[in-house]
Amino acid sequence: MSRPTQFTIDLQALCENARTLKRLAGPRSTMAVVKADAYGHGAVPCAKALAPLVDAFAVAIGEEAIALREAGINLPILVLQGPHSRQEAQVMSSAGLWPAISSERQIDWLEQSGVQFERVWMKCDTGMHRLGFMPHEIASARSRLTTHSANDIVLMSHFADAETPDSRLTERQLTRWHEVSDASSSGSFSNSAATTGQIATRENWIRLGYSLYGGSLVALPEKFSLKPVMQFESRIASVRWIDVGESIGYGGRWVARRRSRIATIPVGYGDGYPRAARDGTPIGTQEGIVLLAGKVSMDMITADITDLPVLNFGSPVTLWGNSPSIDEVAGHCDSIGYELCTRITQRAPRRFHHVTSDRH
Ligand SMILES: Cc1ncc(COP(=O)(O)O)c(C=O)c1O
Repeated sequence: MSRPTQFTIDLQALCENARTLKRLAGPRSTMAVVKADAYGHGAVPCAKALAPLVDAFAVAIGEEAIALREAGINLPILVLQGPHSRQEAQVMSSAGLWPAISSERQIDWLEQSGVQFERVWMKCDTGMHRLGFMPHEIASARSRLTTHSANDIVLMSHFADAETPDSRLTERQLTRWHEVSDASSSGSFSNSAATTGQIATRENWIRLGYSLYGGSLVALPEKFSLKPVMQFESRIASVRWIDVGESIGYGGRWVARRRSRIATIPVGYGDGYPRAARDGTPIGTQEGIVLLAGKVSMDMITADITDLPVLNFGSPVTLWGNSPSIDEVAGHCDSIGYELCTRITQRAPRRFHHVTSDRH
């Protein structure tokens, strides 16, 4: 088939990002978060590329961990939601996974099934208030886990607002973290934003997701510059002139204020390009940026290319990647890049650029 729309996944860039972030991590161990199919980038190829560079992987749910094991990933895998039943606790133990435990109910399942884990992560709720033990519950949960189910415990928590400088919420979370964590035992708090923002905390593990794929919720200093791993690309499939006052696409949202040259690109929300994208969302071409004009359809988008007459049938376009970045596009869609890459669909092929072995 020859529709020119595709995702290119640059595994070399993924590994370069991992190296850059490891420099920031210093002596802390690095966990690569590859949940939700590695944020849409392909969990198995990404995990295989990252395996020589990281200390462990994290996924959200048991099924994601089992799929990695079946694909031959042997590094430790943390399951961030832990088991959802007693039976799942058994499966996780048999597969040698690390469960994150965040409720007494989950500890009950571990005890009832009599399973033993080499390591269990215990989640503390320092302020996100979704999952985890409250600080005053930590001691008793730890004692139950070490008595019955785990040889080793890593205390973990999760930042709710690490990307906001001087966040009061971050300050509050850190205060609680320092009350419950202990310099002599293992801990993990930082996500991507806490790592790139260099939020100082007591921990010996960091958990990196979005930054590995080259995205960031905030502008990063040059020295930490990360490379986009995903390029979402297509080519112009049709070009037409429309007169002043004519509109484009569903609902006629964009109306020509001048005689305009319009390009149609064969990509739409059926591929994961967000329907929420507003007029003016940037689209990259080799000659510069052009702007989305008209509502996103399931299979097509349209752009005003009047100012770049060299663009024509077959000209390549970048929906997101090097330019514009996924974070810039997300800013025009009331979303974040995390959602955009996670919601790409299976329709357009993902092509992987593999790591050349001398760079490992
Ligand atoms: C518990 C936990 N840790 C780490 C991460 C990684 O976060 P990020 O992708 O911002 O690095 C996530 C992502 O949602 C998470 O839920």
